[in-house]
Amino acid sequence: MAIIAQLSDIHLAAGRDGAVDDGSGPVRALRAAVSSLLSLPARPDAVVLTGDLADAGLAAEYTRLHALLSPLPMPVYPLCGNHDDPDALRAVFADHPAVSATGTSVRAPLQYAVDIGDVRLVCCDTSVQGQPYGFMDDDRLAWLDTTLAAVPDRPTVVATHHPAYPVGIRFIDDMRFTNAAAFGGVLRRHPQVVRVISGHVHRGSAGSLGGIVATTCPSTYRQLFLDLTQPGHAAVTGEPAGFAVHLVTTTTTTTHFVPTGNYRPLMDVE
Ligand SMILES: [Fe+2]
Repeated sequence: MAIIAQLSDIHLAAGRDGAVDDGSGPVRALRAAVSSLLSLPARPDAVVLTGDLADAGLAAEYTRLHALLSPLPMPVYPLCGNHDDPDALRAVFADHPAVSATGTSVRAPLQYAVDIGDVRLVCCDTSVQGQPYGFMDDDRLAWLDTTLAAVPDRPTVVATHHPAYPVGIRFIDDMRFTNAAAFGGVLRRHPQVVRVISGHVHRGSAGSLGGIVATTCPSTYRQLFLDLTQPGHAAVTGEPAGFAVHLVTTTTTTTHFVPTGNYRPLMDVE
């Protein structure tokens, strides 16, 4: 069994002087999310960060992010979104071998697999330099196929930034995972994949991919307006920020969406 928390779309932003302002929205929001996560009675075994961690992919933003996450005692696994720079991210999060050993060439994709208890987490890179949409080239998909084939018997969660299903919000679907069908084709060959978890949408949602349940995660910072009209109104809202908690056992996988807040019990129920 493993409990995997998911923080997403943190969007830490540095100003023109390169400093990340402690009083700014994303910093305060991330502090609240971390504190909320740590207030849960069952402490997650690991935390995965599903992209758009830094707003501009700057080293100063990742350094600040790393410091803000330091209260978390469990391993933290980052992956790239369309706002991220894999080299800058890898340089700051090099304290975990799975992250630092991914490759040394410039803009090598940040892809790796780790074990969390008896569950496997496979992190994929759907980011494309300078583009908002997602794409995994043949090399990335071949790595995914080989990585999944190597451990066929362990329940496996696959993480991406861009979700592999349309969410119905035009603003997001216009910058979708463009070859999600090829990604789904790889996953279908590996029945141990129990869940695909993504970010990008700045909202919790559930969909599916060839029979595999897939979810997106609220942003720790700003939520996107749920407008399913077409073309729709692209906007952020005042909805509560939040994160996700995935409970994975050998037989079931359950996802909880958790608004950031203070979760001490108010009153016992019988
Ligand atoms: Fe984002």
